[in-house]
Amino acid sequence: MEKLWGGRFEGSLDEEAASFQDSIGFDKRLFREDIEGSIAHAGMLCKCGILKEEERDLLIGALKELLSDMEQGRTEPDDSYEDIHSFVESTLVKRIGDAGKKLHTGRSRNDQVALDMRMYVRRRALELDSALFSLEEVLARLIRENKDTYMPGFTHLQKAQPVTLSHHMAAYFEMFHRDRLRIRDLYVRLNECPLGAGALAGTTYPLDRQLTSDELGFDRPTANSMDSVSDRDYVIEYISALSIIMMHLSRSCEEIIIWNSNEYSFVTVSDGFSTGSSIMPQKKNPDIAELIRGKTGRVYGDLISMLTTMKGLPLAYDKDMQEDKEALFDADDTAYSCVRMYAGMMDSISFDRDRMRKSCEMGFTNATDAADYLVNKGMPFRDAHKVIGEIVRYCIENAKALSGLTMEEWKGFSDLFSDDIYDCVSIENCVRRRNTGGAPGEEAMERYIISMEEKLKEGRISGH
Ligand code: ARG
Repeated sequence: MEKLWGGRFEGSLDEEAASFQDSIGFDKRLFREDIEGSIAHAGMLCKCGILKEEERDLLIGALKELLSDMEQGRTEPDDSYEDIHSFVESTLVKRIGDAGKKLHTGRSRNDQVALDMRMYVRRRALELDSALFSLEEVLARLIRENKDTYMPGFTHLQKAQPVTLSHHMAAYFEMFHRDRLRIRDLYVRLNECPLGAGALAGTTYPLDRQLTSDELGFDRPTANSMDSVSDRDYVIEYISALSIIMMHLSRSCEEIIIWNSNEYSFVTVSDGFSTGSSIMPQKKNPDIAELIRGKTGRVYGDLISMLTTMKGLPLAYDKDMQEDKEALFDADDTAYSCVRMYAGMMDSISFDRDRMRKSCEMGFTNATDAADYLVNKGMPFRDAHKVIGEIVRYCIENAKALSGLTMEEWKGFSDLFSDDIYDCVSIENCVRRRNTGGAPGEEAMERYIISMEEKLKEGRISGH
């Protein structure tokens, strides 16, 4: 295939070097962005008197036709083209002749690819935000429905104090909501239009950069032409945001795997999100959760790869930057599918409420409350801590829960105990009393749910 840049060359590119440097295999997925950018560029060239109206109409008509051909799968670039930009241009020339050759006036592939990438990240950021919003809705349902599903809260993976499933899930709701805010935030920096920066130093043609920027839904044109073609910060910011999302998904999946284990049995992952073993008939494995945890490393890898690619590049464009695409596509595809899988898994998971409740009792998650009881009756906290510690040891030796001790047994440890200790150590009460802002108590959770509903009301990011 004839190269866009063949004129200066006598010999042709070594065959292996050609396929080494070609990017069509992966950048063809930028076809929408490339064509939409070209349509805006052609329209602007005409308004600025660089293209005749007939030429513009011919170009835009052919670009629109190519877009629909590609969307319908009627036209598909083969590997003989160097990249998506060459493919679009040669197809135009083939279809409409000389007018096709005028499209690239005042443009370089450097600002063109910078534009395509920004538009791609922008579109995918919105799709990801939407998937995250659906995930928030799944968590919100679990939060609303499980205000009295008691479970142990853990530190060091040791039972600590009782919480509720609502409260635990609200922790994740907050994380995923911050993830969405992060996307919204990077979107603002991302949404500037590099088109018109040329190869690196702008162009001598009287282009109207504001016009293409407006046409393509950007907030403004970028401010420096060298920065425009050499900046991939937005890709790095986006993959960072994806990495943080993956980290949150992975932590939750790790818990689901633990809770789904035979020993815990707090949850059962539904058949739709589990798989079996080819040899052990009894097995039902939480593979989807494990894969999400596993794929997290891969997204981190893409982030490190991009940071490393960019760190030594002199201004402005260097071909190294072509490596941005596979890293971006891989991280983006992976995180997007993980968000959807996680939402599906959480939407169909079932919780064993009795077992979770019993686990609070048997894990002495009410021991802090019992110590506070003694403090309220006048004992110094350090002494109370020691007395309750002794009671816990006694309970372990006798396989009892605090709530199962007789009054006589309580009194054996301190005269300060009376009948109201039973109210004090009931798991429901331990939770109910915790009403500081953000705590699991019923009132605090009611207030939390109001704030959560407000966050949900903001809806999805609407974009440009
Ligand atoms: N395929 C190239 C990329 O992805 C397009 C830009 C090529 N520009 C150039 N001067 N070789 O970065």
